[in-house]
Amino acid sequence: MSNILDGKVTSNQIKEELSQEVAALKASGKRPPHLAAVLVGNDGASLTYVGSKVRSCEKIGFDSTLIRLEDTVTQVELLETINKLNNYATLDGFIVQLPLPKHIDEEVVLHAINPDKDVDGFHPTNFGKMALGMETFIPATPFGIMELLRRYKLDISGKHAVVIGRSHIVGRPMSILLSNKGNPGNATVTLTHSRTQNLAEITKAADIVVSALGVPNFVTADMIKHNAIIIDVGITRVPDENHPKGYVITGDVAYDDVKDKASFITPVPGGVGPMTIAMLLQNTMLAYKRNS
Ligand code: GUN
Repeated sequence: MSNILDGKVTSNQIKEELSQEVAALKASGKRPPHLAAVLVGNDGASLTYVGSKVRSCEKIGFDSTLIRLEDTVTQVELLETINKLNNYATLDGFIVQLPLPKHIDEEVVLHAINPDKDVDGFHPTNFGKMALGMETFIPATPFGIMELLRRYKLDISGKHAVVIGRSHIVGRPMSILLSNKGNPGNATVTLTHSRTQNLAEITKAADIVVSALGVPNFVTADMIKHNAIIIDVGITRVPDENHPKGYVITGDVAYDDVKDKASFITPVPGGVGPMTIAMLLQNTMLAYKRNS
């Protein structure tokens, strides 16, 4: 029987800590931190995530602004919006929700964000600082996973961590953070991806597996070793007529199959997802402190 790494409870603790900090700021006459989110188009999942981010801001007393643009917006218009946000003095940080429509070059857009306001940590300046172990904005999903490991006091030093997926948002930064000096950190990391051969042989040798692949129920019990720590980043919407929403959010890990073999496991939902939002808020607090 494995232990659950409860991202819901942990993220609520972080949000409570932040809301106390905000209350103290306001009591001393200061303005609260301010986060903005730019959402292009009407993608259902993106709407849900951005909605959660804005609601979480309100809950802890941050100011928040949601900027919605049509999916026909041109790259030049989007860059103009980013330029305005870059120069808006009392805006501490902002994000451009991904994915963007195909006619917009994601790299150009992300590189236009002022690194001091890049609370997603996607700008090369911040990504580079993260890789060098310097203080910076760390991408919220891997940051949330590191924070879960830290708060549950799981020692990964010297252990073999296997990351599945090499995206710029999760897998790649995750592999860097796990191997960086620090606690949690100091792991021996293997970064696997779509071209990896004999993946199951590699995951079977892992003390910790982080799956950020987006393939439902991909990681099965036969792919892991006894007492491994299993972190599930998958949040795929799988159609399900029996569910009122018409889909169920499904992780990369076959939870029922794996849960008795793992030592610790993150559920989906209620694992990594809520941590992502909490760490975005934490990055915004850091941006605020630097900006005031
Ligand atoms: N799309 C999926 N995850 C993220 C994230 O962490 N930040 C942004 N901006 N877009 C995303």
